[in-house]
Amino acid sequence: MTDILLVSNMMPHIQEALAAKHALHRLYEAEDRQVFLASVANRIEGVATMGKADAGLIDVLPNLKIISSFGVGYDGVNATHAASRNIVVTNTPDVLNDDVANIAVTFVLTCSRRFSEWERFARAGLWENEGDPPLARAINGRKVGILGLGRIGKDIARKLEVFGCLIGYHGRSRQSDQSYEFYDDLTEMARDCDFLIAICPGGEATRGIVNRQVLEALGPDGTFINVARGSVHDEDALIEALASGKLGHAGLDVFAAEPKIPERLRRLDNVTLQPHQGSATIETRRAMGDLVANNLLSYFAGNGTITPVAECAGIT
Ligand code: NAP
Ligand code: 8YV
Repeated sequence: MTDILLVSNMMPHIQEALAAKHALHRLYEAEDRQVFLASVANRIEGVATMGKADAGLIDVLPNLKIISSFGVGYDGVNATHAASRNIVVTNTPDVLNDDVANIAVTFVLTCSRRFSEWERFARAGLWENEGDPPLARAINGRKVGILGLGRIGKDIARKLEVFGCLIGYHGRSRQSDQSYEFYDDLTEMARDCDFLIAICPGGEATRGIVNRQVLEALGPDGTFINVARGSVHDEDALIEALASGKLGHAGLDVFAAEPKIPERLRRLDNVTLQPHQGSATIETRRAMGDLVANNLLSYFAGNGTITPVAECAGIT
């Protein structure tokens, strides 16, 4: 039996699977985190977390071997620091591709058809007094630029092709096995596209890359959709572009300071908002939870991890 620290309140099925074989210590229930950590630190060999583990936490656990993180994005886990201490970090890739791609496609459809706006219009009883609302836009034949043609980005592209969309992508490098148009310049892609969908990792490398210039290149008829991380867009520039009409519409699942959404953004009509729901179905969250538990169980059974992150690929 190994001692595992639960940093966050993980789903019950994760806790049940782990508790059957290991001793669990619940940091999120501690009244004083420092006192609690000091009392268990030397025993902890595994950590389970909802996407957060900074260098400070890693360094108070001298015998830590593995951090199992819920979510494919692990920008909140200091994986470089973990790797420098020979600690393996795991995440939950692939099992969420379909649902996250679906929410991106939903944003494309709802933004182009102004679904939220006309829903509010109908609900407010405005139709009978003001008549039909203005016409929306079709998506067939329109161009979608994907920022981050990875596991989820490819699923988004595949699904949007069925709707007749033309696909381009931007990333750090061209993917020779992909026939979609590659742009090495994000602003140029935004200028060429009707929709820009961000689905790249968060963190310092992508902080604010969807900036004022990119948003204005997308333009008054353009729509920006972010299902990646709130750190990827410049939120002030985004609000200003939407409010001034320099950008047409936005569909946002992620925000700079979650769970806070700036009031200026919430007041805008030309934005469709979701509270970080990309992977939030019972089926997908269950599969993600299974992977969190199974990475720990497999590792401590001596069989290695299932889905280590790139920085930790060589750590066994
Ligand atoms: P992935 O397979 O690793 O794909 C990431 C893509 O981003 C790759 O195509 C990569 O291409 C590109 N990329 C990486 N760094 C970049 C940079 N600095 N500039 C431009 N492009 C860059 O990841 P995934 O599994 O598809 O997940 C992507 C992200 O989606 C996650 O990290 C997470 O933040 C977000 N996500 C959000 C939700 C939600 O609920 N809203 C759910 C799941 C995931 P190159 O290597 O060629 O640059
Ligand atoms: C997570 C996500 O559910 O996987 C990711 O990167 O953003 C979501 O799927 C979320 O981070 C859990 O809090």
